[in-house]
Amino acid sequence: MKINSVVDYAVEAGVAVITVDSPPVNALSAPVRAGVYRGVETATTDAAVGAIVLICAGRTFCAGADITEFGKPPVSPLLQDLQSLIENAPKPVVAAIHGTALGGGLELALVAHYRIAVPAASCGLPEVNIGLIPGAGGSQRLPRVVGVEAALEMITSARHVPAAQAHAMGLLDVLAQGPDLRAAAVAFARRVMAEGRPLRKVRELDAKLQAARAAPGLFAEFRAGHARQFRGFLAPEYAIRAVEAAVNLPFDAGIAEEKRLFRELLEGSQSAAQRHAFFAERRAAKVPGVPADMPTRTIARVGVIGAGTMGGGIAMNFLSAGIPVVLVETSREALDRGIGVIRRNYENSAKRGASGAADVARNMALLTGSLALGDLADCDLVIEAVFEQMAIKQDVFARLDRVAKPGAILASNTSYLDIDAIAASTSRPGDVLGLHFFSPANIMRLLEIVRGRDTAVDVIATAMKLARTIAKVGVVVGNCHGFVGNRMLAARNREADRLVLEGALPWDVDRVLYEFGFPMGPFRMRDLAGLDIGWDAAKSSSSTVRELLCEMGRRGQKTGAGYYDHHAARNAAPSAVTERLILDFAARQGVARRAIADEEILERCLYPMVNEGAKILEEGIAARSSDIDTVWLCGYGWPRYRGGQMFWAELEGLPKILGRLRALQQVHGDEFRPAPLLERLVAQGGSFHDFAGPDAG
Ligand code: NAI
Repeated sequence: MKINSVVDYAVEAGVAVITVDSPPVNALSAPVRAGVYRGVETATTDAAVGAIVLICAGRTFCAGADITEFGKPPVSPLLQDLQSLIENAPKPVVAAIHGTALGGGLELALVAHYRIAVPAASCGLPEVNIGLIPGAGGSQRLPRVVGVEAALEMITSARHVPAAQAHAMGLLDVLAQGPDLRAAAVAFARRVMAEGRPLRKVRELDAKLQAARAAPGLFAEFRAGHARQFRGFLAPEYAIRAVEAAVNLPFDAGIAEEKRLFRELLEGSQSAAQRHAFFAERRAAKVPGVPADMPTRTIARVGVIGAGTMGGGIAMNFLSAGIPVVLVETSREALDRGIGVIRRNYENSAKRGASGAADVARNMALLTGSLALGDLADCDLVIEAVFEQMAIKQDVFARLDRVAKPGAILASNTSYLDIDAIAASTSRPGDVLGLHFFSPANIMRLLEIVRGRDTAVDVIATAMKLARTIAKVGVVVGNCHGFVGNRMLAARNREADRLVLEGALPWDVDRVLYEFGFPMGPFRMRDLAGLDIGWDAAKSSSSTVRELLCEMGRRGQKTGAGYYDHHAARNAAPSAVTERLILDFAARQGVARRAIADEEILERCLYPMVNEGAKILEEGIAARSSDIDTVWLCGYGWPRYRGGQMFWAELEGLPKILGRLRALQQVHGDEFRPAPLLERLVAQGGSFHDFAGPDAG
């Protein structure tokens, strides 16, 4: 019997089976809540029914709340009304889980008296990912079931816990054997009836909370142990407070506290930023001018040219995804070194338990090293990652053009160079594009997909699909110097250098950006990458602090010294030598150094980036402002709780930014000249978010 368009009701051997069928993920929308509510009411009054099974059709159990309802007036029945109906039902309710029971989905399952799941299922409360905590009792019920430490770990990590583990933790009562979950759930419900098992209400369990009450240091320890990981984020801290409330308050008071904390987060800027980040990533997958059903080219074999810092990491992405790679170098020595690094990386991740020893062997078996470009003849995609010099890249592409098979995609990992100029050295510019990975390439999630003037649409579509295959977030960008990310980074670096000349020290700039939420500031980043990237000893003219440091042999962390002194790994100490060098250099330049406030450092570093972002948007280099945010979030460690560069700019206020840029332009010159788009948006009261770009018509 259909209860409504998304919920079905049937009675089978004395058990009512309520089935939710609301594709794609059975989110807890108003019709789903209403249907299940009616189903439970019906089952409760039906004398032929002794127990109730709640199950979902399609690919998953309820995968969470319907987040499109956030911020809208609540529609009854509320999830909490449905939960209380189920928890207080006079007949046992069994939640039957397949796929994922996440967020509101798991919170629904937690009011059932028993839970059964297929072994492939997983459970989680991932709300912190969008800057929230569980808001429907999850923080109060989960610790009662799995214990306080496990609940803290699960909620603050947003981890999806596999069914076997969830079973061991007590979150699931039974793992269903065999392929038919429905039959297993009905059989289990009948057993519950036959054995007269109690209506176990999670809200009434206390043993695991008692254990936590006996360990008063538990919360302080948890906070201290995760301080680095949670830095700047409100949601994990609020989650800890909510679980503390579960331990210290009666259930209903705990629920009220959870609700209060949830609301506070929901109304704050962090959750708005994190929800923006979440949707921005999804939006990036929709590329203007590339239909979703565009046929793509098959990528079964990949070539990588250059086995340096980037080439090795790039190759690993494909090996890990099971795609064979041919790695080409110019010398045996460079090739062996590159392959050695790949092997060590895999071995290290096996040692950490992130993968098995068998994975190392499997991945390495997919890798072929070569010294001949001709060995790339049967590759479907070739990614070039050689030195960042146009002449070298053009030479490589011209030779590649002669050996690559027809239809092969030819990509460059260039950081800044003109993709069209690279494509012009081939006879097939339609097959050429930029695939810009970020260091470390096997870890950073961003892939800038640079569309050249002639790049074919199916090549872009293939690159987007490929990004998903290797678990990257692909963002299509236009061709310009530095594309989206590095072009904006250059604006920040220019200011960071000027601030250091005018009066700040590198560690002042780094501290301000670290406190803003970046993992590290620009000078630490340079020390880490190597100050001599792009530096040429023969051409060095002592005309920047960076050149001077390189000339002194201070080339960054790898040489034990750069802007900082690096006595031990991860320990960068402000350097008296660097400070002296800066003071002398500024004096020679005739700069009267002054004290620079933190606020000025932040504005000078970030506002020019917003300005550059506005130009990028206006020129159509990025299709939308959220794509720029995604680039910064996934490629450069922009703090997620600040939503990305352009989202943050809106919060900061475009009129304020425009005013400061104008003032800075007066003092420092035209590099601060506001972008026309910024001027226009402020004049019209518009936002980056609504700006549709030049191609929108
Ligand atoms: P790298 O210097 O570590 O590696 C370059 C490798 O290419 C060397 O092993 C060299 O032997 C090899 N090579 C040079 N010419 C070759 C040729 N004709 N055939 C085959 N191999 C050749 O440089 P890195 O850092 O890996 O950079 C490579 C490219 O990636 C550059 O275009 C760079 O701008 C870009 N990139 C670098 C990033 C970084 O953080 N290092 C980030 C993103 C892009």
